[in-house]
Amino acid sequence: MKNDGFALITGASRGLGMAFARTLAQRHCNLVLVARSPEPLHAFANELRRAHPVSVLAIQRDLSTGGAGQVLAEQLSSGGIPIDLLVNNAGFGLRGEFRANSLPRQLEMLRLNNQAVVELTYSLLPGMLERGQKGIINVSSTAGFQPIPFASAYSATKAFLTTFSLALEQELRAAGVSVVTLCPGRLHKKQNGNAVQPVKEKWASIYQSPEQVVDEALRVLANGGGLSVPGALNKFSVFAQRLIPRKIVPRLVAKLSRA
Ligand SMILES: NC(=O)c1ccc[n+]([C@@H]2O[C@H](COP(=O)([O-])OP(=O)(O)OC[C@H]3O[C@@H](n4cnc5c(N)ncnc54)[C@H](OP(=O)(O)O)[C@@H]3O)[C@@H](O)[C@H]2O)c1
Repeated sequence: MKNDGFALITGASRGLGMAFARTLAQRHCNLVLVARSPEPLHAFANELRRAHPVSVLAIQRDLSTGGAGQVLAEQLSSGGIPIDLLVNNAGFGLRGEFRANSLPRQLEMLRLNNQAVVELTYSLLPGMLERGQKGIINVSSTAGFQPIPFASAYSATKAFLTTFSLALEQELRAAGVSVVTLCPGRLHKKQNGNAVQPVKEKWASIYQSPEQVVDEALRVLANGGGLSVPGALNKFSVFAQRLIPRKIVPRLVAKLSRA
């Protein structure tokens, strides 16, 4: 990344986005951090400014409102903030029966997980193409590789994102923009930014730390982009389900998903 360029990370105030921000600050990247809640966002931005010789901009924004991605890109452009790396990370997953989950909340998820990504990518690309090294990391999920009953709309948003991102990677290859499609499995959640939240023992081995996932994503980015499924178990499960007839997969997943 050029010294005057910034990495824009959506959903940067906790979880995976926070881990991206920490690692990139350690690597001396200037940052634009985006999230809705101002207090944790600004506290984290101050912490990074104190710890690293980088510029950190904190922007409070709800990306699930239509047009928010475009408005953010225009704000950055008029403020003279060039973006060299876009990390489309903000997202959430609703679980439960489709008909029991509220429609507005499901549509909010579609707008955040998909519409905001398309808007931001579309709006920032012209500026990125004018600069030297460029990259996009789209945070999808292993949930996008198969239909997941009881997380039906969520798995569909991640299927959209994975497909969009892998296709875009090929379109942008010749223009020198590296695109990483990052598909993590389950992640450890941190409490108060520190201790790892305990997980049920039978599932413990499938959980990864956000830091492991970020390191893997940045390694793939440095190698020119591509699909990243961090963790041997996740890689295996994504591969293994391709050997099962497609109409059987949702039935098997429904049993696990409902449990
Ligand atoms: N956690 C997992 O096990 C897992 C597994 C696979 C994939 N993923 C994907 O990884 C990404 C990050 O997940 P995570 O678990 O790290 O999330 P998280 O801990 O819930 O953090 C979400 C971040 O996004 C921000 N955010 C939420 N809604 C927003 C909105 N409407 N506009 C702007 N910012 C918003 C949150 O801050 P505010 O609430 O203040 O806005 C927060 O900074 C998501 O795309 C998720 O689907 C997660």
